[in-house]
Amino acid sequence: MSPFLLTRTMPADATDAALRADVLHGLTRNPKTLPPKWFYDAHGSDLFEEITRLPEYYPTRAEREILLARAPDIAAASGARTLVELGSGSSEKTRYLLDALPALDSYVPVDVSESALRGAAEALLAQRPELSVHALIADFTHGLALPGTPGPRLVAFLGGTVGNLLPDERAVFLKSVRSLLSPGDTLLLGTDLVKDEETLVAAYDDSAGVTAAFNKNVLTVVDRELGADFDPADFDHVALWDPRHEWIEMRLRARRALTVKIPELDLVVPFTAGEELRTEVSAKFRKDGIETELGAAGLRLTQWWTDSADRFALSLATVV
Ligand code: SAH
Ligand code: TRP
Repeated sequence: MSPFLLTRTMPADATDAALRADVLHGLTRNPKTLPPKWFYDAHGSDLFEEITRLPEYYPTRAEREILLARAPDIAAASGARTLVELGSGSSEKTRYLLDALPALDSYVPVDVSESALRGAAEALLAQRPELSVHALIADFTHGLALPGTPGPRLVAFLGGTVGNLLPDERAVFLKSVRSLLSPGDTLLLGTDLVKDEETLVAAYDDSAGVTAAFNKNVLTVVDRELGADFDPADFDHVALWDPRHEWIEMRLRARRALTVKIPELDLVVPFTAGEELRTEVSAKFRKDGIETELGAAGLRLTQWWTDSADRFALSLATVV
Protein backbone atom coordinates (compact mmCIF):
# COMPACT_ATOMS: atom_id res chain seq x y z
CA MET A 1 0.00 0.00 0.00
CA SER A 2 1.32 3.48 0.74
CA PRO A 3 5.12 3.25 0.48
CA PHE A 4 5.83 5.42 3.50
CA LEU A 5 8.90 4.73 5.58
CA LEU A 6 9.84 6.82 8.61
CA THR A 7 13.43 6.43 9.75
CA ARG A 8 14.66 7.87 12.99
CA THR A 9 18.36 8.69 12.74
CA MET A 10 18.18 10.63 15.98
CA PRO A 11 17.25 8.20 18.74
CA ALA A 12 15.21 9.81 21.52
CA ASP A 13 18.07 9.47 24.00
CA ALA A 14 20.49 11.13 21.57
CA THR A 15 18.03 14.00 21.13
CA ASP A 16 17.79 14.28 24.88
CA ALA A 17 21.58 14.29 25.25
CA ALA A 18 21.92 16.93 22.53
CA LEU A 19 19.30 19.14 24.16
CA ARG A 20 21.00 18.81 27.55
CA ALA A 21 24.40 19.67 26.06
CA ASP A 22 23.02 22.65 24.13
CA VAL A 23 21.11 24.04 27.12
CA LEU A 24 24.01 23.55 29.51
CA HIS A 25 26.47 25.15 27.11
CA GLY A 26 24.13 27.92 25.98
CA LEU A 27 22.83 29.07 29.34
CA THR A 28 26.19 29.11 31.13
CA ARG A 29 27.91 31.42 28.66
CA ASN A 30 27.73 35.14 28.16
CA PRO A 31 25.69 36.17 26.24
CA LYS A 32 23.29 33.29 26.79
CA THR A 33 22.11 31.38 23.70
CA LEU A 34 19.81 28.51 22.74
CA PRO A 35 20.09 26.85 19.29
CA PRO A 36 17.06 27.15 17.00
CA LYS A 37 16.33 23.51 16.25
CA TRP A 38 14.67 23.20 19.67
CA PHE A 39 11.88 25.55 18.56
CA TYR A 40 10.29 22.78 16.56
CA ASP A 41 8.33 20.48 18.84
CA ALA A 42 4.78 19.76 17.61
CA HIS A 43 3.50 23.08 18.96
CA GLY A 44 6.49 24.97 17.53
CA SER A 45 5.92 23.42 14.10
CA ASP A 46 2.26 24.50 14.24
CA LEU A 47 3.27 28.03 15.26
CA PHE A 48 5.74 28.19 12.38
CA GLU A 49 2.97 27.23 9.95
CA GLU A 50 0.94 30.09 11.42
CA ILE A 51 3.91 32.45 10.86
CA THR A 52 3.99 31.51 7.16
CA ARG A 53 0.42 32.84 6.82
CA LEU A 54 1.02 36.19 8.58
CA PRO A 55 0.66 39.33 6.46
CA GLU A 56 4.10 40.54 7.64
CA TYR A 57 5.89 37.25 6.87
CA TYR A 58 6.57 37.68 3.15
CA PRO A 59 9.30 34.99 2.63
CA THR A 60 6.89 32.06 2.23
CA ARG A 61 4.72 33.87 -0.30
CA ALA A 62 7.73 35.19 -2.22
CA GLU A 63 9.33 31.74 -2.39
CA ARG A 64 6.02 30.19 -3.46
CA GLU A 65 5.77 32.71 -6.30
CA ILE A 66 9.24 31.72 -7.56
CA LEU A 67 8.53 28.00 -7.24
CA LEU A 68 5.26 28.33 -9.09
CA ALA A 69 6.95 30.15 -11.96
CA ARG A 70 10.18 28.13 -12.09
CA ALA A 71 9.28 24.58 -11.10
CA PRO A 72 9.36 23.42 -14.76
CA ASP A 73 12.85 24.92 -15.20
CA ILE A 74 14.04 23.33 -11.95
CA ALA A 75 12.59 19.98 -12.98
CA ALA A 76 14.20 20.14 -16.42
CA ALA A 77 17.60 21.25 -15.10
CA SER A 78 17.70 18.57 -12.39
CA GLY A 79 16.06 15.63 -14.15
CA ALA A 80 15.52 14.39 -10.60
CA ARG A 81 14.35 10.89 -9.74
CA THR A 82 14.79 11.56 -6.03
CA LEU A 83 13.84 14.79 -4.30
CA VAL A 84 15.51 15.25 -0.92
CA GLU A 85 14.19 18.15 1.16
CA LEU A 86 16.06 19.43 4.21
CA GLY A 87 13.97 21.04 6.97
CA SER A 88 10.87 20.09 4.99
CA GLY A 89 8.31 21.09 7.66
CA SER A 90 4.81 20.86 6.18
CA SER A 91 6.24 20.29 2.63
CA GLU A 92 3.55 22.70 1.53
CA LYS A 93 5.58 24.51 -1.17
CA THR A 94 7.19 21.23 -2.24
CA ARG A 95 4.00 20.45 -4.11
CA TYR A 96 5.06 22.76 -6.96
CA LEU A 97 8.25 20.76 -7.43
CA LEU A 98 6.43 17.43 -7.21
CA ASP A 99 3.86 18.57 -9.76
CA ALA A 100 6.66 19.45 -12.16
CA LEU A 101 8.36 16.06 -11.63
CA PRO A 102 5.76 13.49 -12.71
CA ALA A 103 8.38 10.72 -13.11
CA LEU A 104 9.85 11.21 -9.64
CA ASP A 105 10.57 7.93 -7.85
CA SER A 106 11.27 9.00 -4.26
CA TYR A 107 10.72 11.91 -1.94
CA VAL A 108 12.99 12.10 1.10
CA PRO A 109 11.83 14.78 3.57
CA VAL A 110 14.32 15.40 6.39
CA ASP A 111 13.27 17.19 9.57
CA VAL A 112 13.77 17.13 13.34
CA SER A 113 10.01 17.44 13.78
CA GLU A 114 8.31 14.04 13.64
CA SER A 115 4.85 15.62 13.78
CA ALA A 116 5.63 17.81 10.76
CA LEU A 117 6.99 14.81 8.81
CA ARG A 118 3.95 12.67 9.53
CA GLY A 119 1.49 15.42 8.61
CA ALA A 120 3.36 16.23 5.40
CA ALA A 121 3.66 12.59 4.29
CA GLU A 122 -0.01 11.96 4.88
CA ALA A 123 -1.03 14.95 2.75
CA LEU A 124 1.45 14.08 -0.03
CA LEU A 125 0.54 10.42 -0.28
CA ALA A 126 -3.13 11.31 -0.58
CA GLN A 127 -2.13 13.21 -3.73
CA ARG A 128 0.67 11.01 -5.08
CA PRO A 129 0.02 7.48 -3.80
CA GLU A 130 2.65 5.95 -6.12
CA LEU A 131 5.46 8.11 -4.72
CA SER A 132 7.84 6.36 -2.38
CA VAL A 133 8.20 8.64 0.67
CA HIS A 134 11.21 7.93 2.85
CA ALA A 135 10.99 10.42 5.72
CA LEU A 136 14.03 10.94 7.93
CA ILE A 137 13.85 12.27 11.46
CA ALA A 138 17.34 13.70 11.41
CA ASP A 139 19.46 16.74 12.18
CA PHE A 140 20.63 18.08 8.82
CA THR A 141 23.69 19.65 10.47
CA HIS A 142 24.93 16.39 11.90
CA GLY A 143 26.05 13.30 9.99
CA LEU A 144 23.19 13.17 7.53
CA ALA A 145 23.14 10.00 5.38
CA LEU A 146 20.64 9.54 2.57
CA PRO A 147 18.81 6.35 1.60
CA GLY A 148 19.89 4.60 -1.60
CA THR A 149 17.09 5.88 -3.80
CA PRO A 150 17.66 6.34 -7.57
CA GLY A 151 19.51 9.39 -8.95
CA PRO A 152 19.78 12.03 -10.10
CA ARG A 153 18.99 13.69 -6.81
CA LEU A 154 17.66 17.19 -6.30
CA VAL A 155 18.35 18.42 -2.77
CA ALA A 156 16.01 21.28 -1.85
CA PHE A 157 16.59 23.50 1.16
CA LEU A 158 13.79 26.04 1.20
CA GLY A 159 12.31 28.65 3.50
CA GLY A 160 15.53 30.58 4.04
CA THR A 161 16.39 28.10 6.78
CA VAL A 162 20.05 28.13 5.69
CA GLY A 163 20.07 31.68 7.13
CA ASN A 164 19.40 30.26 10.58
CA LEU A 165 22.94 28.85 10.58
CA LEU A 166 25.84 31.11 11.56
CA PRO A 167 28.39 31.77 8.79
CA ASP A 168 30.93 29.21 10.02
CA GLU A 169 28.17 26.62 10.56
CA ARG A 170 26.90 27.40 7.07
CA ALA A 171 30.30 26.74 5.51
CA VAL A 172 30.52 23.34 7.23
CA PHE A 173 26.91 22.56 6.35
CA LEU A 174 27.28 23.43 2.64
CA LYS A 175 30.35 21.20 2.40
CA SER A 176 28.41 18.36 4.00
CA VAL A 177 25.59 18.87 1.48
CA ARG A 178 28.16 18.85 -1.32
CA SER A 179 29.45 15.52 -0.02
CA LEU A 180 25.95 14.04 -0.37
CA LEU A 181 25.82 14.95 -4.07
CA SER A 182 27.17 13.03 -7.05
CA PRO A 183 27.91 14.51 -10.47
CA GLY A 184 24.57 15.26 -12.10
CA ASP A 185 22.82 16.02 -8.79
CA THR A 186 21.61 19.53 -7.99
CA LEU A 187 20.97 21.76 -4.99
CA LEU A 188 18.02 24.14 -4.81
CA LEU A 189 18.57 26.76 -2.12
CA GLY A 190 16.00 29.31 -0.91
CA THR A 191 17.39 32.47 0.66
CA ASP A 192 15.81 35.65 1.90
CA LEU A 193 17.47 38.80 0.54
CA VAL A 194 18.78 41.97 2.18
CA LYS A 195 16.12 44.68 2.10
CA ASP A 196 14.84 47.63 4.13
CA GLU A 197 14.96 47.25 7.89
CA GLU A 198 11.28 47.97 8.46
CA THR A 199 10.09 45.11 6.25
CA LEU A 200 12.62 42.73 7.78
CA VAL A 201 11.85 43.54 11.42
CA ALA A 202 8.08 43.36 10.85
CA ALA A 203 8.49 39.83 9.42
CA TYR A 204 10.03 38.74 12.74
CA ASP A 205 7.90 40.82 15.09
CA ASP A 206 4.34 40.53 13.79
CA SER A 207 1.48 42.52 15.26
CA ALA A 208 -0.50 39.40 16.23
CA GLY A 209 2.38 38.16 18.40
CA VAL A 210 2.70 34.76 16.73
CA THR A 211 6.46 35.08 16.27
CA ALA A 212 6.76 36.12 19.93
CA ALA A 213 4.89 32.94 20.93
CA PHE A 214 7.10 30.90 18.60
CA ASN A 215 10.28 32.37 20.09
CA LYS A 216 9.06 31.78 23.66
CA ASN A 217 8.08 28.20 22.81
CA VAL A 218 11.74 27.22 23.15
CA LEU A 219 11.42 27.97 26.88
CA THR A 220 8.40 25.67 27.12
CA VAL A 221 10.42 22.91 25.43
CA VAL A 222 13.20 23.28 28.01
CA ASP A 223 10.61 23.28 30.82
CA ARG A 224 8.98 20.10 29.56
CA GLU A 225 12.11 18.18 28.59
CA LEU A 226 14.45 19.22 31.40
CA GLY A 227 12.02 20.12 34.19
CA ALA A 228 13.03 23.81 34.07
CA ASP A 229 10.79 26.51 35.53
CA PHE A 230 11.02 29.18 32.82
CA ASP A 231 7.86 31.29 32.80
CA PRO A 232 7.52 32.58 29.21
CA ALA A 233 5.63 35.60 30.61
CA ASP A 234 8.88 36.74 32.27
CA PHE A 235 10.43 37.37 28.82
CA ASP A 236 9.81 39.80 25.98
CA HIS A 237 10.34 38.86 22.34
CA VAL A 238 12.96 41.03 20.64
CA ALA A 239 13.76 41.07 16.90
CA LEU A 240 16.48 43.39 15.66
CA TRP A 241 18.35 43.98 12.41
CA ASP A 242 22.12 43.74 12.62
CA PRO A 243 23.36 45.70 9.58
CA ARG A 244 26.96 44.59 10.04
CA HIS A 245 26.19 40.87 9.81
CA GLU A 246 23.09 41.46 7.68
CA TRP A 247 20.98 39.23 9.84
CA ILE A 248 17.86 39.47 11.98
CA GLU A 249 18.59 38.46 15.53
CA MET A 250 15.87 37.03 17.75
CA ARG A 251 16.23 37.36 21.48
CA LEU A 252 14.24 36.84 24.68
CA ARG A 253 14.70 39.68 27.17
CA ALA A 254 14.15 39.09 30.90
CA ARG A 255 11.54 41.57 32.15
CA ARG A 256 13.03 41.48 35.65
CA ALA A 257 15.90 39.87 37.54
CA LEU A 258 15.10 36.21 38.01
CA THR A 259 16.58 32.77 38.40
CA VAL A 260 15.57 29.66 36.51
CA LYS A 261 16.05 26.21 37.98
CA ILE A 262 16.86 23.33 35.64
CA PRO A 263 16.81 20.28 37.93
CA GLU A 264 17.69 17.75 35.21
CA LEU A 265 20.96 19.61 34.66
CA ASP A 266 21.49 20.44 38.30
CA LEU A 267 21.68 24.05 37.17
CA VAL A 268 20.42 27.41 38.43
CA VAL A 269 20.54 30.15 35.80
CA PRO A 270 20.45 33.78 36.93
CA PHE A 271 19.14 36.51 34.62
CA THR A 272 19.63 40.20 35.34
CA ALA A 273 16.74 42.56 34.53
CA GLY A 274 16.85 43.24 30.79
CA GLU A 275 19.34 40.45 30.10
CA GLU A 276 18.89 38.95 26.65
CA LEU A 277 19.01 35.32 25.63
CA ARG A 278 19.85 34.93 21.91
CA THR A 279 17.66 32.35 20.26
CA GLU A 280 18.14 32.68 16.54
CA VAL A 281 19.64 34.57 13.67
CA SER A 282 18.04 34.75 10.25
CA ALA A 283 20.68 35.88 7.79
CA LYS A 284 19.70 37.80 4.67
CA PHE A 285 21.72 37.35 1.51
CA ARG A 286 23.00 38.93 -1.70
CA LYS A 287 23.73 37.07 -4.91
CA ASP A 288 27.51 37.60 -4.72
CA GLY A 289 27.69 36.22 -1.20
CA ILE A 290 25.71 33.12 -2.09
CA GLU A 291 27.80 32.44 -5.17
CA THR A 292 30.96 32.75 -3.07
CA GLU A 293 29.66 30.52 -0.26
CA LEU A 294 28.50 27.86 -2.73
CA GLY A 295 31.82 28.04 -4.54
CA ALA A 296 33.76 27.56 -1.30
CA ALA A 297 31.80 24.35 -0.75
CA GLY A 298 32.53 22.98 -4.23
CA LEU A 299 29.19 24.00 -5.73
CA ARG A 300 28.59 26.12 -8.81
CA LEU A 301 25.65 28.52 -9.01
CA THR A 302 23.94 27.84 -12.34
CA GLN A 303 20.57 29.61 -11.98
CA TRP A 304 19.31 32.49 -9.86
CA TRP A 305 15.65 33.42 -9.67
CA THR A 306 13.91 36.06 -7.55
CA ASP A 307 10.26 36.96 -7.00
CA SER A 308 8.73 39.97 -8.75
CA ALA A 309 9.58 42.26 -5.80
CA ASP A 310 13.18 40.94 -5.42
CA ARG A 311 12.59 39.92 -1.83
CA PHE A 312 13.64 36.28 -1.96
CA ALA A 313 15.85 34.12 -4.19
CA LEU A 314 16.08 30.53 -5.33
CA SER A 315 19.52 29.35 -6.41
CA LEU A 316 20.22 26.22 -8.37
CA ALA A 317 23.70 24.76 -8.02
CA THR A 318 25.58 21.78 -9.40
CA VAL A 319 28.67 20.00 -8.16
CA VAL A 320 31.91 21.45 -9.51
N1 SAH B 1 10.75 24.23 4.55
C1 SAH B 1 9.56 24.72 5.26
C2 SAH B 1 9.81 24.85 6.77
C3 SAH B 1 10.82 25.89 7.19
S1 SAH B 1 10.92 26.06 8.97
C4 SAH B 1 9.18 26.06 4.68
O1 SAH B 1 9.90 26.56 3.83
O2 SAH B 1 8.14 26.61 5.07
C5 SAH B 1 12.41 25.17 9.30
C6 SAH B 1 12.21 23.65 9.35
O3 SAH B 1 13.48 23.05 9.55
C7 SAH B 1 11.30 23.19 10.50
O4 SAH B 1 10.39 22.23 10.02
C8 SAH B 1 12.28 22.57 11.50
O5 SAH B 1 11.71 21.50 12.23
C9 SAH B 1 13.42 22.12 10.61
N2 SAH B 1 14.74 22.14 11.24
C10 SAH B 1 15.31 23.16 11.92
N3 SAH B 1 16.56 22.83 12.30
C11 SAH B 1 16.78 21.57 11.84
C12 SAH B 1 17.90 20.68 11.90
N4 SAH B 1 19.03 21.03 12.50
N5 SAH B 1 17.78 19.46 11.30
C13 SAH B 1 16.62 19.09 10.68
N6 SAH B 1 15.54 19.89 10.61
C14 SAH B 1 15.62 21.12 11.17
N1 TRP C 1 13.63 29.94 8.58
C1 TRP C 1 12.71 30.91 9.13
C2 TRP C 1 13.28 32.30 8.91
O1 TRP C 1 14.42 32.53 9.20
C3 TRP C 1 12.47 30.61 10.58
C4 TRP C 1 11.73 31.65 11.35
C5 TRP C 1 10.76 32.49 10.93
C6 TRP C 1 11.92 31.97 12.71
N2 TRP C 1 10.33 33.29 11.96
C7 TRP C 1 11.02 32.97 13.05
C8 TRP C 1 12.76 31.47 13.69
C9 TRP C 1 10.97 33.50 14.33
C10 TRP C 1 12.70 32.00 14.97
C11 TRP C 1 11.80 33.01 15.28
O2 TRP C 1 12.58 33.15 8.41
